[in-house]
Amino acid sequence: MHVFTQVSGLQKRVATARERNKRIAFVPTMGALHEGHLSLIEKAQEVADYVVVSIFVNPTQFNDPKDLEMYPRPLSFDIAKLEAIGANVLFLPSVQEIYPAELDFVVDVDFGLLTKVLEGVYRPGHFEGVIKVVYRLLEITQPDVLIMGQKDFQQVAIIRHMIQELHLPVELIANPIVREADGLALSSRNVRIDPSQRPRANSIFYILSEAKTIWHSTTPTEVNRVGASKLEQAGFRVEYYEVVDGHTLETVEQWDQHEYLVICVAAWLGQVRLIDNMILQDVKITV
Ligand code: PAF
Repeated sequence: MHVFTQVSGLQKRVATARERNKRIAFVPTMGALHEGHLSLIEKAQEVADYVVVSIFVNPTQFNDPKDLEMYPRPLSFDIAKLEAIGANVLFLPSVQEIYPAELDFVVDVDFGLLTKVLEGVYRPGHFEGVIKVVYRLLEITQPDVLIMGQKDFQQVAIIRHMIQELHLPVELIANPIVREADGLALSSRNVRIDPSQRPRANSIFYILSEAKTIWHSTTPTEVNRVGASKLEQAGFRVEYYEVVDGHTLETVEQWDQHEYLVICVAAWLGQVRLIDNMILQDVKITV
């Protein structure tokens, strides 16, 4: 695996791969790689023949300085995992490399509701940081395909909108959520869950799964109310638990007015904020 810390080296390498007619996939990460990230890399290997992974703990997307400070950075383990899985290139830039002083850019897209609801309410400024860094990383790597995890459902919806609005020549693939054996969605933050609370952490998954089996026999408001209340009973502090339209993220009030339905949830378990989601009805469903 080739490791580059500078844009110029990375771009030369990617250009050489492209000259050799390689299809280039890009997997942006903030490191602390787990099976979820590795599944993104496997997907990249399936759909392309040259895989670039970035590890960059993007300071502009952390609205809480403590969260940035505590973000895990096990770099040597990450590199070993990337070597073992067979990633072709690791891009490991500094903050200066991503945001050089002379480069002042704005991503001029109207995101409407997409950045304002759900995470947007609780993490002001977060998506502005994500949009900026993903735009910059795409500009640097110029991949044919971008692979992201469906775990961050809202993030994927926002990046898809950016790609469409700016007509960026890249395909976006959202890979399904990878879960622990007990159902907890994999996240780099899971290592911070207090061991005494860990057995309860999978309640999110069970409550979402239950909602998926009963949603058509009740109302969206009731789905939201029951889910949030069960989570509170399980010891979580719920920020949101809401059925939204999978395209626009607007609140769903009546099932028949939306074809793409997803429940998005964010809740605190002790000192750790967990997010998860479950697609109730996908756009591909025709029955
Ligand atoms: O999902 C993440 O890990 C980050 O938000 C991303 C997409 C790598 C941008 O920093």
